[in-house]
Amino acid sequence: MSGSDRPEKLTWPTVEQRKASRRGAGTNPPAGPPPHERRSGTDRRDESAWAEVTLDASATAGDPADALIAAAMQARRFAHARYSKFAVGAALETAGGDVIGGCNIENATYGLTLCAERVALVKALSEGHGVFTRIAVVADTEDMTPPCGSCRQLLWEYCGDIEIVLANLTGGRARYRLSALFPMPFDARLLE
Ligand code: THU
Repeated sequence: MSGSDRPEKLTWPTVEQRKASRRGAGTNPPAGPPPHERRSGTDRRDESAWAEVTLDASATAGDPADALIAAAMQARRFAHARYSKFAVGAALETAGGDVIGGCNIENATYGLTLCAERVALVKALSEGHGVFTRIAVVADTEDMTPPCGSCRQLLWEYCGDIEIVLANLTGGRARYRLSALFPMPFDARLLE
């Protein structure tokens, strides 16, 4: 594709700009909940929730994520991965300090496979948890295994811009904000 054929890069209007264009300038958006109470696309209408947070790309042994990674490793032991042989464990941490584990669950249709992250998420939501801080994901890969696109979408919906802690079985680790892995989300703000 030549340079002139390239589609023009579009800018992403802020929430305020979208609201102003619909309702007329001067409308004050609701303040939105404090960070520890953000839990869904709806609650993330407050633009301050999108502030960039820089995290170290790697974490070391003895860091605060150790227990969460250990929980993900435990959950991974229960993976049902007879087709892919690719066992994944996840551990989702709530704002209250609870940790909910999940593993991937495959089946003969392949397509109905559930990822470890989504299993942890639906377990947590169905047990009444609603505010999340971090999720750890563990797989036996040399490069860290990040959440797939579908999981990123659902994590964004229900967890907001949480921290993603990745680990393998040989001590490798990485940490990201979900917004870094999922930079231009489709979410509830667009349905307002
Ligand atoms: N899988 C997960 O559980 N989480 C990920 O982050 C990546 C992929 C699972 C789905 C499937 O059971 C297997 O890994 C291979 O794709």
